[in-house]
Amino acid sequence: MLCDCIWTNARLATMAGDATGLIEDGVLAARHGRLVYAGPADGAPAFTSDQHIDCEGRLVTPGLIDCHTHLVYAGNRADEFEKRLEGVSYEEITRNGGGIASTVTATRAASEQELMSESLPRLDALLAEGVTTLEVKSGYGLNLEAERRMLSVARALQSERKVRIATTFLGAHAVPKDFQGAADAYVDLVVSEMLPSIAEAQLADAVDGFCETIGFSTEQIRRVFEAARELGLPVKLHAEQLSDQNGSALAAEFGALSADHLEYLSESGVQAMAQSGTVATLLPGAFYATHETKLPPVEALRQHGVPMAIATDCNPGTSPLTSVLLAMNMAATLFRMTVQECLQGVTINAAKALGLQDNIGSLEAGKSCDLAIWDVRSPSDLVYRIGFNPLHARVFQGETVS
Ligand code: NIG
Ligand code: FE
Repeated sequence: MLCDCIWTNARLATMAGDATGLIEDGVLAARHGRLVYAGPADGAPAFTSDQHIDCEGRLVTPGLIDCHTHLVYAGNRADEFEKRLEGVSYEEITRNGGGIASTVTATRAASEQELMSESLPRLDALLAEGVTTLEVKSGYGLNLEAERRMLSVARALQSERKVRIATTFLGAHAVPKDFQGAADAYVDLVVSEMLPSIAEAQLADAVDGFCETIGFSTEQIRRVFEAARELGLPVKLHAEQLSDQNGSALAAEFGALSADHLEYLSESGVQAMAQSGTVATLLPGAFYATHETKLPPVEALRQHGVPMAIATDCNPGTSPLTSVLLAMNMAATLFRMTVQECLQGVTINAAKALGLQDNIGSLEAGKSCDLAIWDVRSPSDLVYRIGFNPLHARVFQGETVS
């Protein structure tokens, strides 16, 4: 069989099916950027290929997927970090004009060029750990012009680096200062002007919102979701992060790709998500950085078969994290997720959270040949170490890129 590149002597964590699917002596073959074979050496077809890479027994996983980030923004919030250390809460900071609002001011003032150069180092940190796909949300512009700018920069990251970017419009992230006390009027703007214009320009692959006492009510989010549905865009939601607003049930009602955070998720919310097939995206970086003590209901999600994803939530306020490996370690240590769940969380289930499971997230013939090749032998080595990066090589669409 003719192909462009084969990888032999690899230990494959295929992530196909419901398990890690470890293959001790595995072979991968790619043609035109796609896998044509991923399986045991024993019984593999005979390949003719220009390029042959001997993995020397290294672990190969699908390229990692960070399915929830706010990677594109300007400025930083180290000052608020210091305040929180003194005991001021995130809600209090937000109510006093800090939090999301302070990043909005910095982001509105930044040019595309500046946004790009501030975002690239964060992107590079993720890529250095084998990330081949990430989601980037808007939500620090909060007016049409600045939201468009954020999304254009997010898309443009793909021309700067070998990576796949899924963009999400998060206009309903916070009520901007100019709409203080007029949240409904801001939602009007989101649904009647911002969303249609962004959809028309094809700048967003999905639509998100922040359903919270300091964000938007379920009724307001419902209006955003209805508008998204009309435009044929899938939805996701920041839900149950600081309190139980029943946002996840609303998300499930709209067949959301994912509901994210979920520390305060109730049993009925879990059931609703199970029924709609909505992915639970858990964000241990935000849990850690906000000193949260209420754990997401991992056991209930497990019992009901809700797929769990893990992401960095990379943002300047509640999760200044640019390490998927650390997110996995935190999910294991803080949330008691298993090694297999952690790996599924940044591969196949993260792909589901983006609606991309037919193209990425596992090592299977037909999918994009996105690989992370590691200087370790087993998946547990990836999860248990803290602050250590064993990436050997990153392969994007069949090409070794770092
Ligand atoms: O995912 N929860 C709302 N949004 C972000 C925080 C954004 C910020 O503080 O800048 C989150 O945690
Ligand atoms: Fe977030």
